[in-house]
Amino acid sequence: MGIKTIRITDFPIHSQFVECWSPRAFTLDAIDEHALLTILEAARWAPSSYNSQPWRFVYARRETDQWVSFLSFLNEFNRSWAVRAAAIVVILSKQTFRLPGRVEEFSLPTHSFDAGVAWAFLALQASLLGWGAHALAGINRDLIRSDLSIPDDFSIEVCVALGQSGDAALLPHFLQAKEVPSNRRPLVDMAGEGRFVDGT
Ligand SMILES: Cc1cc2nc3c(=O)[nH]c(=O)nc-3n(C[C@H](O)[C@H](O)[C@H](O)COP(=O)(O)O)c2cc1C
Repeated sequence: MGIKTIRITDFPIHSQFVECWSPRAFTLDAIDEHALLTILEAARWAPSSYNSQPWRFVYARRETDQWVSFLSFLNEFNRSWAVRAAAIVVILSKQTFRLPGRVEEFSLPTHSFDAGVAWAFLALQASLLGWGAHALAGINRDLIRSDLSIPDDFSIEVCVALGQSGDAALLPHFLQAKEVPSNRRPLVDMAGEGRFVDGT
């Protein structure tokens, strides 16, 4: 997966962080289940509050029986390009957890945060294996809940489109110019020692 713009960091960091981005132009290459599970395995090793591991994953690969229904989970814009993805993963999080040795469920205020860390691990592992991972908040959560019979105590966080990144020309015309890794605001605009900074 070639990087088409240069990302310059404020401090030197491992290249995996800047090489990971969110492509939309997918090549139609298929992903085998072993590769997909390897990517989810990295997500499994994310840290979480109380080691509660509230994330859950439901996935479908292109050309399987479930594919069309997983595509229907995406809004029209996301579907217009994710139709070429190799797989769609729904990320869910459990809002409660059980302490070891206890039977009752406790509220887990960090369930979404924890699932976000799992998403980051997933995206980094995908990128390291040469796959592009693109998170999608533009989804129909009511449809996902009913179609997949998701219990009420689980939040539907995002979907992720996975695929091999290809040429921008594979995209609908209006998206082609956007097919570049984006930049970031400077660190000094968001990190302050002993004081709040918000350099927006
Ligand atoms: C939680 C989350 C939700 C997102 N939802 C969408 C989406 O619905 N559609 C889309 O095209 N991109 C979506 N994105 C992609 C972001 O726009 C993208 O990550 C951001 O612009 C930074 O670009 P980069 O990942 O290539 O560095 C989402 C990203 C995240 C992390």
